[in-house]
Amino acid sequence: MDYRPQYHFSPPTGWLNDPNGLIWQDGEYHMFYQWHPSTEFDGAGMCWHHAVSTDLVHWKHLEVALAPDGLGAIWSGSAVADVANTSGLFEGAGGLAAVFTHHAPSHAERQSIAYSTDRGRTWRKYAGNPVLGDDTCRDFRDPKVFWHGSTQRWVMVVGVEHQLFHSPNLKDWTPLGKTGFTSECPDLFPVMVEGENQVLWVLSLGGRQVVVGDFDGRVFVPQTGPIEVDGGMDFYASQSWENIPGGRRVWVGWLNNWKYARQVPEFGARGFMTIPRELSLRRVAGKGLVLVQRPVPALEALRRDAWTIDVRGLQSGQPLAAGEALEIEATMRPGAGDCCGVKVAAAGGEETLVGYDAAAGCAFVDRERSGLAVTAGRFWVPMAVRGETVDVRVFVDRCSVEAFFNDGEAVISCQIYPTKSGGAVEWFSGNGKSAVREMRVHRLAAIHAQQRNNGAD
Ligand code: FRU
Repeated sequence: MDYRPQYHFSPPTGWLNDPNGLIWQDGEYHMFYQWHPSTEFDGAGMCWHHAVSTDLVHWKHLEVALAPDGLGAIWSGSAVADVANTSGLFEGAGGLAAVFTHHAPSHAERQSIAYSTDRGRTWRKYAGNPVLGDDTCRDFRDPKVFWHGSTQRWVMVVGVEHQLFHSPNLKDWTPLGKTGFTSECPDLFPVMVEGENQVLWVLSLGGRQVVVGDFDGRVFVPQTGPIEVDGGMDFYASQSWENIPGGRRVWVGWLNNWKYARQVPEFGARGFMTIPRELSLRRVAGKGLVLVQRPVPALEALRRDAWTIDVRGLQSGQPLAAGEALEIEATMRPGAGDCCGVKVAAAGGEETLVGYDAAAGCAFVDRERSGLAVTAGRFWVPMAVRGETVDVRVFVDRCSVEAFFNDGEAVISCQIYPTKSGGAVEWFSGNGKSAVREMRVHRLAAIHAQQRNNGAD
């Protein structure tokens, strides 16, 4: 089987893990990412590789942006647009600055900076690196930096024990204290609450959970406990894009898990990102604040053939469509005590189930019989029906399934490794008491040339 994702971001070769340096500038979305030229993770050799996009869906692969040097390998971090040249690294007009972790086994981790005057195409590391180190703290990495408008200074949140710093110039950093949470790859950003004229701050704990609260440029004050953002095991090291016009907040994660990241099959490369998701906050009855994630609208441009399924008298197990890169939209009415939903990648006894368990009150994805055992498992997210129905949007892409329930209120992301081709989409209702109100299936176009490694993408 060829597992190279068709419309998810993946590198043409090598190993990929975390997204890094996500920023919008002058009409371009930048994605840097943890990369190594072999398909194996090699902590001592990690680089930042680079790609750009104008729509967050189609990507142009560029060169390695930052490679290891005498201070160590280049681990995760972020990018900012230093438009006012606060750093003094630029002549006249500002440019992009990257803030990343220098990782060397001989030393505690330290933060360094690099700068680019040509829209991220080439980079120079600052001669005074590292700019921030703490010899008492070995696990001190993944700086996320942003401009805080009301205090007019840069703020950094850095893992693994979340520490906050501020700086006037990206070079000199003053401690602000700790958030009280720990994770790799923290992020901190403002998000609108739907239907309220209110912005709250989201502290991301590396992709698994977020905490919602207030941030005044100095102290993060939680309003919630940790909120689960993805019920699967494969949404990690997420990062949000800085500076998207209009205050939109979009993030992406590594669709993987360190537990088996080194074992999953290669596709010429190894590792890929989730689809980008636009974020908002919603107050949901019985749950409180929920981080809502919606696939970015630009993905709709990938829709090709569409099948509108005749839902009258739909039988479980009837093949409705087939393909390896699909989007399925369904509105289902779960019957009492039933488990219902869609099967995807169903072929020769293999199947992945995306559905709703009415007895448990949970949305779920079951990859127990998806194919290769390396990722086997079943994942649930508690979620109430809306009125009588549950909406689901499922994105299938060769070796992954991402399911968005009730307009992004619950999300489950999973790798799957089917061993049979021609996987079908089917409806299922365990006890026959559930119904489908509407269902559409779209075939999605590939974002890169079909043949892998042909250098065309
Ligand atoms: C998260 C992580 C980061 C680190 C990077 C190294 O997946 O462990 O903490 O900077 O990967 O590649």
